[in-house]
Formats: sequence, C-alpha cells, structure tokens
Amino acid sequence: MLASRLTLALLLAALTKASHHATVKRHTSDLHESYDFIIAGGGTAGLTVADRLSEAFPKKTILVVEYGEVEYARGGFDPPDIIFGGASSARGPGVFTFQSLPNPEVRNKTAFVFAGKTVGGSSAVNGMYFDRPSRFDHDAWAEAGSPEFDTSEHKWNWEGIFPYFKKSVTFTEPSIGSVQKYGYTSDISAYGGSTPIFSSFPPFLWADNVIARNAWKEMGIREAKECAGGDKEGLCWIPLSQYPVTARRSHAGLGHYESVSFRPNYHILVKHQVVKIMYPDGTFSGSLLVELRSLVDDQFSNLTAKAEVILAAGAFHTPTILYRSGIGAASVLKDAGIPLVLDLPGVGANLQDHSGPSWSWSYTKPGNFSPMPSDMLNTIFAAKATAAFNETPASGPYTLSMANSAIYVSLPNMTADYTHIVDIIRAMATNGSSSAYLPTDYNAEPSLIAGYKRQLSVLAAFLANPEAPSTEVPFATGTSARIFLLHPLSRGTVRLDVNDHLAQPIVDYRLGSNPADFDLHVAHLKFLRRMLDTPTMRLYGAVETGPGAHVQHDAALREYIKDSMTLSFMHPCCTAAMLPRELGGVVGPDLRVHGLERVRIVDVSVLPFLVSAHTSSTAYAVGEKAADIIIRSWLK
Ligand SMILES: Cc1cc2nc3c(=O)[nH]c(=O)nc-3n(C[C@H](O)[C@H](O)[C@H](O)COP(=O)(O)OP(=O)(O)OC[C@H]3O[C@@H](n4cnc5c(N)ncnc54)[C@H](O)[C@@H]3O)c2cc1C
Ligand SMILES: *[C@@H]1O[C@H](CO)[C@@H](O)[C@H](O)[C@H]1NC(C)=O
Ligand SMILES: *[C@@H]1O[C@H](CO)[C@@H](O)[C@H](O)[C@H]1NC(C)=O
Ligand SMILES: *[C@@H]1O[C@H](CO)[C@@H](O)[C@H](O)[C@H]1NC(C)=O
Ligand SMILES: *[C@@H]1O[C@H](CO)[C@@H](O)[C@H](O)[C@H]1NC(C)=O
Repeated sequence: MLASRLTLALLLAALTKASHHATVKRHTSDLHESYDFIIAGGGTAGLTVADRLSEAFPKKTILVVEYGEVEYARGGFDPPDIIFGGASSARGPGVFTFQSLPNPEVRNKTAFVFAGKTVGGSSAVNGMYFDRPSRFDHDAWAEAGSPEFDTSEHKWNWEGIFPYFKKSVTFTEPSIGSVQKYGYTSDISAYGGSTPIFSSFPPFLWADNVIARNAWKEMGIREAKECAGGDKEGLCWIPLSQYPVTARRSHAGLGHYESVSFRPNYHILVKHQVVKIMYPDGTFSGSLLVELRSLVDDQFSNLTAKAEVILAAGAFHTPTILYRSGIGAASVLKDAGIPLVLDLPGVGANLQDHSGPSWSWSYTKPGNFSPMPSDMLNTIFAAKATAAFNETPASGPYTLSMANSAIYVSLPNMTADYTHIVDIIRAMATNGSSSAYLPTDYNAEPSLIAGYKRQLSVLAAFLANPEAPSTEVPFATGTSARIFLLHPLSRGTVRLDVNDHLAQPIVDYRLGSNPADFDLHVAHLKFLRRMLDTPTMRLYGAVETGPGAHVQHDAALREYIKDSMTLSFMHPCCTAAMLPRELGGVVGPDLRVHGLERVRIVDVSVLPFLVSAHTSSTAYAVGEKAADIIIRSWLK
C-alpha cells in the first residue's frame, strides 16, 4: 500500500516536473520589469483568468504570482488516501492550515480549515465533488445588488452566469455500463464546453449507496435527472472533477496552466507572496506597483502592472492583500497600524462557510452489501483496488472520491412551519435587531449593517421558495450523514494578524451568532431523521444513534447540533462581496474594487452569500465571466 502510494506520487511528480519546469519562474530576476496584467494567486479562478487573458491578448503579458509550488500536491481525497484519511489527509506543502478563533455559540469550538497553496489552488486539493448552484442562488445574488446594479451591462443572475458554467468544463456522460449498473442520469444540455477542466462520473459505487437513495425516494424526494442546469431541488447525481478514463483529478493547475504553458506571454512565478498594491503616481487611475516577497529568501521586490492587478488569492487571502495595501475599514487598518488609502469596510467582512451537524444510525437486521469501504482494510482487496485504479481505463473504489449522490431540499419541502422561520428572518431584516448579531466593530459601519439587512431579506425570500435548497445531505456510504446548512445567516471576519502582517490571517467564523441558523439546522435534522421511517430503512432495522430517538425537543436538538457540528466544510467565501458600496460591498458587477480603476477581484471572495453547492464550480464560472468582462473592457 505504502509502496504504491509512493509510486503514484512520484510518477505524478515526475510528469509534472517534466512538463512544467521549463516555463515556471522562480526568481524575480527571471521576469520582465513590468507586465500588462499581474494576477495574485494561481488558484482555481486566478488561473482560469490567466489562461483566457493570455489566449485573447497574445501581445499582452500576464504574470501569475503564486504562494505555493508547481507540484503534485496530495489532495483531501486523492487515491490511495481517500477512504480512511478523509479531509485530514490533505496535509503537506500543498495546503494552508487554519484554525479559527473559538466559536462561542458552538461550545467555543474552533474550525479546522484547509485552503490550497499550490499551482491550482484549492481545486488541486479539494474533495472533487463537482456540483453547481441552484438558479435561485444566482438570481438572489443579482437581487442583492438591485436596483443599484441594474444598469450594469454585467448580469450575475442565473441567465447571466449559466453560459460561463457551461464554458468552464468538459463533461463526459457516464458510460452505458455504469448507467445500467448504477442508474446514473445526466442531461448533456447543462454542459457543452470544451475547456480542459473535466467533469466525469466514476465507474464505481459502494454497494450500500442504493439504500440511501431508495429511502430518500420513499420519503417523497423527487429524483432529478440533472442538477447542473439550475434546477436543483431533489435527489441528485453529482459528477466529480476528474478526467474520464483515467479518473485522475482534474484541476486548474493542469487545465489552465500546464496545458497552455507554452504561451510566451503567460508567466507563473512560484513561491512568492503578493504583499500589497501601490500607486506610484498617487492616483487610482495610473499604473500600479505590486510588492512581492520571496518565500525562499525573504527578499522584497516591486513589479509594475501596466493594465490591471487581479486579485485571486482566495477568500482568506484576498482581503489580506487589500488590508496591506491600505484598503479596508479605517478602524481595522488603524488597529493594524497601516495608513489608510481607501476606506472600504466590507474588506474581510461577511465571512461565511458551510457547516452542519452529523446524524447517524445503525442497522439491527442483516443486509448483505458488498463491497463496502471496510473491505479496504483487507490487503488483497486494497491491492486489487490500486491495480484497478492504475489500469486504463481505471476502475474500482479509487475512482470514487467521497460521494456522488446527495439530496438538496428546500425549507417548504421540509417543514410546514417554514413560514415561522422565514418570518423571523424577515423581522431581523427590518426591525433593527440584526446588528446585534454582527461583529461589534460593524456598529461603526452603517453600510455593513444595511448590507446585512439586504442579504437577510433576499435570503428570507430564497428560503420561502419551494424550489430553492436550504440543506444538502451528501451520502457516501456507511451509517452517518452530514447535514449542510447551505445559506448560513451568521457572519464572520478575516483580519490581519496585527503582530505580523505577512503571516496567515485571523479567521473568526462567529458560527451561530445569528440564532436563526439553529432554527434552520433543527428543521433540517427533523426532516432527515424521518428517513428511518421508510420501508427500506425498516427492512434493515435502522435505529437512530445520533442524536437518538430520546432526543425530541427543539432545545435538546439544538444542543445535539452544537455537539456534533462540523464547523467548516472548507467553502469559505464572501469576504470581498459584490454589493453596492453603500451596502458594504467591495466590488461592483464589473469586479472592480469600488473606488479603484485598475484592481479587480475574481475569486470566491466576491460572492455576496454562499450558494447551494460546493464552491469550486462557482470559482471556475466566476473566473470565466471575469475573464470575459476584462477582455471586453480592454478590446474597447
Ligand atoms: C480540502 C478542501 C476540500 C474541498 N472540497 C471541495 C469539493 O469537494 N468540491 C468543491 O466544489 N469545492 C471544494 N472545496 C472548495 C473549493 O475548492 C474552493 O472554494 C475553490 O477552489 C476556491 O477557488 P479560489 O480561486 O477562490 O481560491 P483558491 O483556488 O484557493 O486559490 C487561491 C490561490 O492563491 C494563493 N495565494 C494566497 N495568498 C497569496 C498571496 N498573498 N500571494 C500569492 N498567492 C497567494 C494560494 O496559494 C492559492 O493557490 C474544497 C476546498 C478545500 C480546501
Ligand atoms: C467560551 O470562551 C469564553 C472566553 O474564554 C468564555 O467566557 C465562555 O464562558 C466560553 N463559553 C463556553 C460555552 O465554554
Ligand atoms: C418540493 O417542491 C417542489 C416545488 O414545489 C416540488 O416539485 C417537489 O415535488 C417537492 N418535493 C417534495 C419532497 O415535497
Ligand atoms: C517598492 O516601491 C516602494 C514605493 O515606491 C518603495 O518604498 C520600496 O522601497 C520599493 N521596494 C523595493 C524592493 O524596491
Ligand atoms: C426583531 O425580530 C426578531 C425576530 O423575530 C426578534 O427576536 C426581536 O426581538 C425583534 N426586535 C425588536 C426590537 O422588535
């Protein structure tokens, strides 16, 4: 097992080295003195933009500055680690590791979060689950910026972004064999792109997958043919971000860098940190200086960006670059001892992530399900699995990263009492109580409070929509499930470490600071536990073990939820939100930072709130739309 793991890692490392190292830059002395576009962060969205700009403008130069290395970075679920290592196996040089501040409303627990630190960013280390948001997420996103943004030519509603979801990936339909064996369904009309980022179905499922799917159907949950086309309420099959045939991980470093790295106008500088942006002429309209720090020898240097600086360092790091550049809330910058350049309170505010409790059961009657993940403990089975994965085409357990089935259910479909929860959220949006749920330093910033109220009223309408999902329950295998809160109402912050501005930022989720989040969690859990009362689950004598049938009252369920909570499913977002400036926004619909002419943000920081999906597909789609907006603006 260990030997094969090493062999695979070395093989991938060798392949990566051979193809990359001719072009990747390691020292600022290997660079031009200036570039047209400098992109901070060679991750999911940043490389998407770099690829598109270097293709559209062969005469313009593009530099991506990436903190990490060009390497094979072991991902959260990469074979042969996926089954027993879980997310904790995503250690090593390819990730930043964060521990959040304690969350007082959740037993003072701290969230443990990874973020990609490698060429490819988080797409190179994530769980490869490749679903897309609901159309209503994007319609709500556009609504949050309405009417202020209505006159913009750039639309971020579903109609405005769906073409970029389509463009961002190449989808391969499941083989006839796996359709017959597992019942996979898909609809090619949700796809159609030919970009070398791949979305595919694994040719393998654990045998008990069918139990959960049958029980869910018996609960009346509608089986959806395809959930990537915007309609996402029901039981979905979800493809993975992997190549067809080989079943290897597909990520931005391969699809948006390696496959086009021959372009002479596209440079990547690795092992460098973008420190800050400066305005040498003292105006926001001239060319920009970007300060870099080498992570090898700690030397600083400056580069000129003639056209634009594009921030794509992810939801935790994009705000740090802005803060160090003097852009943020005046009070926050004062605490950090940084001279104010532009007062923009939304920087590093509005932090959100997916979280949720677990729910578990056990079977008291026999069922013969084979194969099961526990079979991987058998060395002969495991060796066969490795061999099958290394064949062409690949097959077997290692082609399946985590799950590829889930339910997405709306609040009205879960509880007749949904109007009660929606009314509470509406009241918060209007009666002035909402500021009590925000960080205390928000109180000095009326724009942040106004923006939060706008979000609450848009989200209240979203949650009342029977077609807009409020929870996701992904099923891998086994006897426990995680119940995602797709649209949390609590808001946290990302702040600079005042003692060391170049160190990793301080992440404060403030999970559960808005009590309505627990009302939603309780509704989700009460709905899901009805799953045991289905003919399929009764056949196997399923009994609830967590929380257990004795826990019935909402107050007790709330305590159980706090005890069993996973605080982060590693989808941090929204820390430089696309909202009007008067509502605490950081960027407008053209992705320009409010008040700056030549700085844009293109990563998941710009989401105003979380979507009903894991976030990599949205990072790619935002990157594609951003590239289109930037290209059009420089063609003018
Ligand atoms: C362990 C894990 C599991 C996940 N599982 C899934 C999943 O199964 N499905 C899914 O859809 N999503 C998943 N996600 C989330 C998803 O991958 C991310 O939301 C998405 O990739 C973020 O894209 P991004 O472009 O915003 O940032 P990233 O892709 O994270 O890119 C940011 C890049 O900027 C670099 N950087 C940071 N600071 C600086 C600086 N100062 N200077 C230069 N470079 C810098 C970083 O090294 C990184 O390469 C997971 C994430 C993680 C970490
Ligand atoms: C959480 O920590 C704070 C500060 O240390 C403390 O005052 C509070 O009592 C703690 N809460 C819980 C639930 O442990
Ligand atoms: C959920 O609501 C949608 C839209 O009204 C409906 O089509 C679907 O059948 C509902 N599902 C359940 C389980 O009630
Ligand atoms: C970068 O530019 C700034 C502003 O002009 C200057 O203060 C700093 O010394 C420069 N750094 C280097 C390494 O040249
Ligand atoms: C506002 O509404 C919330 C939710 O219903 C309620 O908890 C709170 O007490 C109300 N505050 C005021 C000032 O009316």
